[in-house]
Amino acid sequence: MVVDPATAEPLNVYKLMIGAIVPRPIAFVSTLSADGVRNLAPFSFFTGVSANPPVIAFSPMRRAADGGRKDTLNNIEATREFVVNVVSEEFAQKMNMCSEEFSPEVDEFQLSGLTPVASDLVKPARVAESHINMECRLVQVVHVSPKPLGGSIVLGEVLRFHVDDALIENFRIDPDKLRPFGRMGGNTYARTTDRFDLIRPGKTQR
Ligand SMILES: Cc1cc2nc3c(=O)[nH]c(=O)nc-3n(C[C@H](O)[C@H](O)[C@H](O)COP(=O)(O)O)c2cc1C
Repeated sequence: MVVDPATAEPLNVYKLMIGAIVPRPIAFVSTLSADGVRNLAPFSFFTGVSANPPVIAFSPMRRAADGGRKDTLNNIEATREFVVNVVSEEFAQKMNMCSEEFSPEVDEFQLSGLTPVASDLVKPARVAESHINMECRLVQVVHVSPKPLGGSIVLGEVLRFHVDDALIENFRIDPDKLRPFGRMGGNTYARTTDRFDLIRPGKTQR
């Protein structure tokens, strides 16, 4: 099958992308609105960009129905701060609750029962249940497309990492303790319990 995105339905192109780019890690992003309302939402168009300095990127898209902007993007542009919380299986359901498209007045911490804990350097709260939190300051937003399902790239510098001592040793994270999961197409998620190693040619094990 050959797909020309110029003529295909945007929703089908989206389906193609979320089925092809798999599994995707999930940034569970905490922000604060200009009025001080807490917001929490998951984003799986998410990756690391730089380690020196540490910079991450994720993409809030325009809403499919009306091309509206997501609260997360509005909040980050207003306050220039956010926290990326790493998700673990034990609070997958609560993360999912925060993906409903609520109005900006809704505090998803309250709604999901997840616990806010004060960050050290930024105003948005961290998620206490998350084993790894990254306090971020906005570097840049690149608005790629304002169309429905169009996206923006949010680049954030990690000012501080918080890592649960129980799952880190010599800067290595134990995935059996972290229990991360990734998003696939549709409603499907992937665990990371079936793993294999490949040593890169010319490199020793890292
Ligand atoms: C696991 C998961 C991953 C998601 N990834 C994205 C994403 O990468 N980009 C996006 O725009 N929406 C994504 N969504 C949908 C948003 O979480 C949803 O639109 C949410 O209501 C946005 O909240 P906000 O308006 O408070 O920012 C995802 C939802 C789930 C459940």
